[in-house]
Order: sequence, then structure tokens, then C-alpha cells
Amino acid sequence: MRIAVCPGSFDPVTKGHLDIVTRASKLFDRVIVLVVINAAKTPSFSPEERVQMIREVIGGSLPNVEVDTFSGLLADYVRDVGAVAIVKGLRAVSDFEYEFQMALANKKLNPTSDTVFLTTASQNMYLSSSLVKQIAQFGGDISDFLPSQIVDRVASRLCKKE
Ligand code: COA
Repeated sequence: MRIAVCPGSFDPVTKGHLDIVTRASKLFDRVIVLVVINAAKTPSFSPEERVQMIREVIGGSLPNVEVDTFSGLLADYVRDVGAVAIVKGLRAVSDFEYEFQMALANKKLNPTSDTVFLTTASQNMYLSSSLVKQIAQFGGDISDFLPSQIVDRVASRLCKKE
């Protein structure tokens, strides 16, 4: 059983994340999408809401994918579940330095797992959760960026237009 963990803030999950998770599910026997508390960020959705949104989006379409939440060191979680890989999407060269640093640190903390980078699909290269939230705050159309199941919820939570 080869287990992979796809970690992130997922605040909220985007089509870019979904693409990476879907592709990871074809490469590994079991994939855990892990909503991690990133202390450097102020989220718009609670961890429980983020988990719920990911579960709704995945539905029954990816039977080997499950969703969990965690606060702490990613390397500890990965070791505890016996995962062989951390899967991350690389959007652009600008992601590389930070991701490289994280991958090396995670390898040092838990030598039994590796970080696997999947190149983000070209249509998602510029996408981030913050970008989608900014567009939603001003009433912009976010339907191209988010899975259809959560578009209305994210828009109604964030839109500040009267
Ligand atoms: N498509 C679209 N957007 C993507 C994407 C993709 N394929 N991959 C990443 N993104 C976006 C994310 O939505 C995120 O957007 P945001 O900054 O607007 O929220 C942005 O790119 C950065 O993503 P990422 O670098 O994965 O950050 P993150 O906050 O989602 O996740 C953690 C970072 C939680 C995995 C990391 O901080 C962590 O592991 N924390 C736990 C503590 C720990 O172990 N630290 C490491 C010590 S070595």
C-alpha cells in the first residue's frame, strides 16, 4: 500500500488543487488530502469547513482519496500514517526555491518519505486560493477557478458587495 499525502491550506480548495489530487490518486494506492494549519496565514474558512468542501468536491469520484486535518509538523503526520510521499504542485519557477527548501527540511525530519512534484496544468499556473478570494470579495466571477460544488458558498461568504 503506497500512501501519499497532499498537504496545503486549501482555503479554499481550487481546480488547481483538484487536478493535483486527481493525478496523485492515479500514482498512489491511497492519497490523504491534508488540511494543514499554516500559522503564517489568516484563513477565511475553518479547518472543518475546508475539509467539508474538499469532501464535497471529491464526492465518490476518487475512492482511494480521503481528507484529514492536522496541526503540527507535516513530517510527523507523514511518518505516523506511513506515507512514502508528499505530493505538491509546482506552478512556476517562483515556487521552486520555497518548495525545494520545504522538501529538504521534510526529508531531514522524516527520511522515509520523499516529496514528489507534479507540474500544475497550464490553465492553473497563475491560480492561488488568495487570488480567488480577492476576486470573490469584489463580486467577480470565480466559477472558472473553483469546483462547481463550492462556488456559491465561497462567493456568498466572501463577497462584500451590497
Ligand atoms: N493549483 C492552484 N493553486 C495552488 C496549487 C495548484 N496546484 N498549489 C499551490 N497552490 C496555491 C495554494 O492555494 C496557496 O495559495 P495561498 O497562498 O493563496 O493560500 C499557494 O499556492 C501556496 O501553496 P503552498 O505553498 O502549498 O502553501 P499552503 O499554505 O497551501 O501549504 C503547508 C503549506 C501547510 C503544506 C506548509 O506550510 C506545511 O507543511 N506546514 C506545516 C508545518 C511544517 O511542517 N512546516 C514545514 C517545516 S519543514
